[in-house]
Amino acid sequence: MSPIIRKQNTPSGAIFSLLLALSIHQTLTADVTPSVVTPETNSPPASPATPGPPEKGTYNVTNATDVVCLLARMGLQLKINFISSSSGKTVQEVLNLHPSLVKSSGSCDPDSATLILTEDNITLTFSFSLNSTSDKYHLSGLELSAALPNMTKRTVFRNTTLNYMVGTLGHSYMCQKEKSLSVTQDFSLNTFQLQVQPFGVNGDFGAAEECDLDEDDMLIPIIVGAALAVLVLIVILAYLIGRNRSHAGYQTI
Ligand SMILES: *[C@@H]1O[C@H](CO)[C@@H](O)[C@H](O)[C@H]1NC(C)=O
Ligand SMILES: *[C@@H]1O[C@H](CO)[C@@H](O)[C@H](O)[C@H]1NC(C)=O
Ligand SMILES: *[C@@H]1O[C@H](CO)[C@@H](O)[C@H](O)[C@H]1NC(C)=O
Ligand SMILES: *[C@@H]1O[C@H](CO)[C@@H](O)[C@H](O)[C@H]1NC(C)=O
Ligand SMILES: *[C@@H]1O[C@H](CO)[C@@H](O)[C@H](O)[C@H]1NC(C)=O
Ligand SMILES: *[C@@H]1O[C@H](CO)[C@@H](O)[C@H](O)[C@H]1NC(C)=O
Repeated sequence: MSPIIRKQNTPSGAIFSLLLALSIHQTLTADVTPSVVTPETNSPPASPATPGPPEKGTYNVTNATDVVCLLARMGLQLKINFISSSSGKTVQEVLNLHPSLVKSSGSCDPDSATLILTEDNITLTFSFSLNSTSDKYHLSGLELSAALPNMTKRTVFRNTTLNYMVGTLGHSYMCQKEKSLSVTQDFSLNTFQLQVQPFGVNGDFGAAEECDLDEDDMLIPIIVGAALAVLVLIVILAYLIGRNRSHAGYQTI
């Protein structure tokens, strides 16, 4: 009787371990993927028809003498909450920018640079600042002006005290993973496969400084690997203990 029990126990133990490993993996992945933060509004925003990831565009800004002074390569997705004129309820809209339809412009000054992207009735402005003492730059402002079909009127979302995309003069800032940048309560910008250099451009991107997310990404395989190794050990131990017990006449569950 006990040999039969043993044979049933071992596979179910292995399946349990596998499920545990999968759930650990999912937990880890969930930690890294920016979770969808739905702002607490009175009426829950209608769930948006989420488009796929946006296409990556290349946007350059040239200075008055036609020298490229800002380089940007990124896919952009806008997440906007607004009160729909048709339903009177707060709705959330997720929109991708389409590089082929985007017109880009901007300006470069010694300690500030802007990139302006316009597609249809949407204008998105990035403002970068350079601290010439520390030679560090960052994305200090984002402004979205949008007139979407169901908006009652053109709406502007602006934040000039941001601190995103921190990089060193002469280097580019890179973030391959999707990153969600919260701008205001009702607007956040999702960036994909991003590389920017707002200052000190010398023909092409300087050496890349990667975002935390990309660095963290390297940790996941290590953590998962370690967790799996521990689980394998547990399974082997459980098997050995189970075998000893069944020899001794115990029935494990
Ligand atoms: C444009 O950039 C180049 C290279 O940095 C510089 O030599 C030139 O003076 C700039 N032009 C203006 C009008 O700032
Ligand atoms: C705009 O409102 C109409 C109803 O008037 C609705 O059918 C449509 O889905 C809405 N569009 C968006 C983008 O929410
Ligand atoms: C842009 O806005 C105008 C006026 O608000 C509207 O008539 C037009 O349909 C909009 N275009 C798009 C592509 O949303
Ligand atoms: C620039 O960096 C220096 C050194 O890190 C810091 O003391 C200063 O406050 C910064 N200036 C601005 C305008 O942020
Ligand atoms: C602007 O961004 C900062 C930093 O993310 C945030 O603390 C602040 O509340 C934002 N301001 C507005 C008007 O949303
Ligand atoms: C932007 O600049 C880069 C590097 O100078 C160049 O390879 C690329 O073709 C430019 N793209 C556009 C759209 O001008």
